[in-house]
Amino acid sequence: MSKEHLSTVWARAFDIPVERGEGPYLIDTQGRRYLDFTCGIAVSNTGHAHPRVVRAIQEQAAKLIHGQIGVVTPQPVLQLTDELRQILPPALDTYFFANSGAEAVEAAVKLARQATGRTNVIVFEGSFHGRTYMTMAMTTSKNSYRLRYQPLPAGVFVAPYAYCYHCPVARRTLSPAERARLSASQPEGDACCGYAIDQVQYLLKTQTAPQETAAMVIEPVLGEGGYVVPPRSFIQALRRICDEHGILLVFDEIQTGFGRTGKFFALEHFGIVPDIVAMAKGIASGMPLSCVAARRDIMSKWTAGAHGGTYGPNVVSAAAAVETIRVLREENLVENSAARGAQLMRGLRELQQQFPVLGDVRGLGSMIGVELVDATGAPDKALTDRLTRLCADHNLLLLTCGTYGNVIRWIPPLVVSEQQIDEALNIFAAALDQATA
Ligand SMILES: Cc1ncc(COP(=O)(O)O)c(C=O)c1O
Repeated sequence: MSKEHLSTVWARAFDIPVERGEGPYLIDTQGRRYLDFTCGIAVSNTGHAHPRVVRAIQEQAAKLIHGQIGVVTPQPVLQLTDELRQILPPALDTYFFANSGAEAVEAAVKLARQATGRTNVIVFEGSFHGRTYMTMAMTTSKNSYRLRYQPLPAGVFVAPYAYCYHCPVARRTLSPAERARLSASQPEGDACCGYAIDQVQYLLKTQTAPQETAAMVIEPVLGEGGYVVPPRSFIQALRRICDEHGILLVFDEIQTGFGRTGKFFALEHFGIVPDIVAMAKGIASGMPLSCVAARRDIMSKWTAGAHGGTYGPNVVSAAAAVETIRVLREENLVENSAARGAQLMRGLRELQQQFPVLGDVRGLGSMIGVELVDATGAPDKALTDRLTRLCADHNLLLLTCGTYGNVIRWIPPLVVSEQQIDEALNIFAAALDQATA
């Protein structure tokens, strides 16, 4: 076995020869156990190899692996629609399934275009929606996702995300500590200056007229762009603008869904219901599956054959998703996400008092970002990388994100215990001591 036959295209964060997973742990071929706070990039919310999910997969695989939905009606898919209806707002009662997150976003845009008869979409700075051509055009978190792939599809317009720590108005008027306090108070904080929403209105006046704008697509908590929680007033204003102009509001809940933010979906934090929601990642504990949920009056405008695919929804993935949702509910993992997230947030904020390099600590539930800065307040990617390496040396796996690569993201599996959070905080504190000495 040799790694040289793997494509070089994967930027592999760690070179760990992993053999198996168990709850919040990954275990390598030598038996070394790592606390996996990467969670397979926010996928393994029920923990690795949850016995109930494993059993559901095994049982379904023995019955039927592939039942093409254009040909027959596999029963696990209907069970999945029943489960989804119990955890989504009642209005979002009609579902399309595919295999990956990017496919779900692509599908959501195709649906929005057909349902409105309009062409354009608005996305937000720092967005990550995938790596297909349309979703690349909608992704603005880093130019490495677009470099040497241009030109990309047209009709995509970019507005600022409400990112209080880097808001240009707040940067002029507030100290870094005040910006960090403002950022940490979201989504409830009501001191938003309104800059980002003004820019959305401006975009609609200057570049994409409302009557040709099909949708606004937004991550309710920015993922790859830096784990940024926007003010509730920003999201609510987007809802009002969309309603005023007949623009569809699409939430990309691919990273935020299935308990990650301490609610089943991040939309619950903002007091509004989007028109369309894209989901993937945590939906099936790692089996490939994604979903677009929409209001029936929108979905019914999508005519038979206008979209589809061979695999989506794979029947084994659908069975895994049914059991994943039941496990999340019956084992109170959404509540655990909120409680462990609060514990983690408290611990990280205490560390922020001791270590000024922790410029901003923010998040919702078990989706927490720590933004590292140097003495001038500038992004410190070198320190960020040093810290994640030191943590990995001590068996804690953490990923980074953010345009400048200076945000450490905390995404523990939602089965994580109080003691494991304390252990992770201790490892991180020791790494901070060592890296800043
Ligand atoms: C918010 C968001 N949208 C879309 C995607 C793309 O999902 P996939 O990699 O499954 O295509 C991701 C992946 O990280 C994501 O975080």
